[in-house]
Amino acid sequence: MADVRVRVPAKINLSLRVGPLRPDGFHELSTIFQAVSLVDDITVSSAPSGSGRTIAVTGDQMESVPRDDGNLAARAAIAVARAAGIDSADVRIDIAKSIPVAGGMAGGSADAAATLIACRRLWNADLDDDALHALAADLGSDVPFALVGGTARGTGRGERLVPVLTTGEWHWVVALSHGELATPAVFAECDRLRAAGDIRSAPGDDTDLLLALRSASAHDLAPCLVNDLQPAALSLQPSLRRVLDAGDELGALAGIVSGSGPTCVFLARDREHAIGLAAEFAGSGLVRGVRHAVGPVRGAHLLP
Ligand code: C5P
Repeated sequence: MADVRVRVPAKINLSLRVGPLRPDGFHELSTIFQAVSLVDDITVSSAPSGSGRTIAVTGDQMESVPRDDGNLAARAAIAVARAAGIDSADVRIDIAKSIPVAGGMAGGSADAAATLIACRRLWNADLDDDALHALAADLGSDVPFALVGGTARGTGRGERLVPVLTTGEWHWVVALSHGELATPAVFAECDRLRAAGDIRSAPGDDTDLLLALRSASAHDLAPCLVNDLQPAALSLQPSLRRVLDAGDELGALAGIVSGSGPTCVFLARDREHAIGLAAEFAGSGLVRGVRHAVGPVRGAHLLP
């Protein structure tokens, strides 16, 4: 079969509530994901027998993306081959990156989700969506959401998903911060701050956020955005405070660190507001790049 192309979105967490550390090393989460219009395009093609995985990357921060089987996309190809009874996962994976690397927008997880879809098609693998979802959950906590996209509540590690009703579209300004933050380090810092009593770990609920998502009112959504990992990300990278403050000064309705950071996302009233805000942010010199993103968008899907 010819090349298979798949487009996959980034995610933001409108709410990210971190519960206790579990015996398996993960934290119990309650999160509301939204897929947004920053995408990676993945092309998977057959490679000569015995050649293993070859990964080529183009785009933003391409030099930071692993080219070996440490890349989650390679592990996704291996997982599909194993589940489908295919002897060797010999594939070339081309990744055209727009999702920030190690930025808290699940770019690596997105590439893995796209590769699952692409390899299923490439090999005509007899795997239904539930089987693919199970492979996704084994690969990483954010991989299942990249498959489904839209807006969804995630529990467990983040892999147990239920769709969330939203109306209208939401406009985000995505500020690409300098540096990278490793997700495990940010969770560990969150534990440390909690153990030291520096931050509270009171459980919250997302009732108001869910109502705001139905109402299509950005003003109602703004006060509901929450990220329990934000104090930890700020502790590891204090300069993010200036980015969040700048969003406030420039008139964003709200701003939060995206997931484990260091990317920050800001809610705008509408498209025009987002475009204006993005331009002002770009001129501030505080960040290495700015994007306007719209959500929700669909999850990983085949391109013609
Ligand atoms: O699932 P994933 O491989 O993306 O997780 C990366 C790391 O983030 C985990 O090894 C863990 O340190 C942390 N994590 C966590 N609790 C979660 C999800 C991720 O502690 N629910």
